[in-house]
Amino acid sequence: MREFSTSPADLAQAAAMLRGGGLIAFPTETVYGLGANACDDQAVKNIYAAKGRPSFNPLIAHFANAAAVARYVQVTAQAQRMMDIFWPGALTLVLPLKPDAQIAPSVTAGLSTLAVRVPNHPVAQELLALADTPIAAPSANPSGRISPTTAAHVRNGLAGNIDGLVNGGSCAVGLESTILTLDPSPTILRPGGVTRSELEAVLGCDVSFAGQTDHIQAPGQLASHYAPSVAVRLNATPLSGESFLGFGPGPCDINLSASADLAEAAENLFAALHALDRLGKPIAVAPVPDTGIGRAINDRLRRAAA
Ligand code: TXA
Ligand code: MG
Repeated sequence: MREFSTSPADLAQAAAMLRGGGLIAFPTETVYGLGANACDDQAVKNIYAAKGRPSFNPLIAHFANAAAVARYVQVTAQAQRMMDIFWPGALTLVLPLKPDAQIAPSVTAGLSTLAVRVPNHPVAQELLALADTPIAAPSANPSGRISPTTAAHVRNGLAGNIDGLVNGGSCAVGLESTILTLDPSPTILRPGGVTRSELEAVLGCDVSFAGQTDHIQAPGQLASHYAPSVAVRLNATPLSGESFLGFGPGPCDINLSASADLAEAAENLFAALHALDRLGKPIAVAPVPDTGIGRAINDRLRRAAA
C-alpha cells in the first residue's frame, strides 16, 4: 500500500490511481472512505472484496459538487434545497438513478436509487475534483468493524488489501453522514452528522427514523456493526476487569467528552473504541443523552454492543 501526503503532487497521483481502477483510502469530515471509480465495475467489486463487505450492501457515490451529481440522479426541488443548505457536508441523499447513468451496477447493489454525497473536507474535495469521476466510498474499515477516523485506523484494518492511503489527519465530525430519503416522505435511514432537527428546520415538516426492517434499506442499520472484538456494555458503571468509556466529569479510562459536549463525543467515539479494543478488556460505556447528534452516537454504540 502506497502512502500519500496531501501535497498537490501526491493528490494528483492518488487521483490518477483512482481513475485507473485503484482502491485509495482518503479522509472526509465524517470518517475515512475507501474510494474507487464508481463507473468501473471491477474497481467497485474490489472494494467489496477488500472490506469483506456483503454484496447486497450498496455504496455512497461521492462528488466534488452538486452540479456533477445532477448528471446521475433525478433532483427534485426538495432535494435541490437540501443540497443547497447541507452540501458540502455530512448529509447523504438517496435519489432515483437516471436511466442512462453510467454508474457501475455494483455501486447500487441492483437498487434503482443512488446514495450521493458531497463531502466537506479540503482533501476529499481536491481529490474528487482531480479524479473527475464519481467515487464510490464506504467507510475504510473491514466490514462490521469500527469505522476509521485516522490514517492509522485505516492502516491497521486494511493495509494489505488496498492500493493507497491519503493521510489527512483525523476526521472532525467523527461519525458517518446522515442518510436521508425523501420518497415517499423524508425519512432518516441512518442517523449521522446532521441531526433530525436540522433537517426538519429546512424541510418544514416532520422527518421520521426508519425502523428496523427485514429487507435492508441501509445495512448500516444491521444490528451488529461498528463492533470491537471485545464485549461492550451500555448505560453502565464499570465492573472490575472492564475498561470504562466515560461521558461527562468523573474517572474513566477514556472520556468521550469531560464537559459532556455531544459534538466532541462524536468526534472522539471511534478513536476511543479503537483504543479500548486494543486493551483487550470488555468495555463499559457511560450513558450518553439521546438528543441531537447523541442519537447517532447511541445508534453506533448499540450496534457496537450487539
Ligand atoms: O460519512 C459517510 O457516509 C462515509 C464517508 C466515507 O462518506 N461513508 C459511509 O459509507 O459511511 P458506508 O458504506 O459505510 O455506509 C453507506 C450506507 C450503508 O448503510 C448502505 O446500506 C447505505 O449507505 N446505502 C447506500 N446506497 C443506498 C441506497 N441506494 N439506498 C439506501 N441505502 C443506501
Ligand atoms: Mg461503514
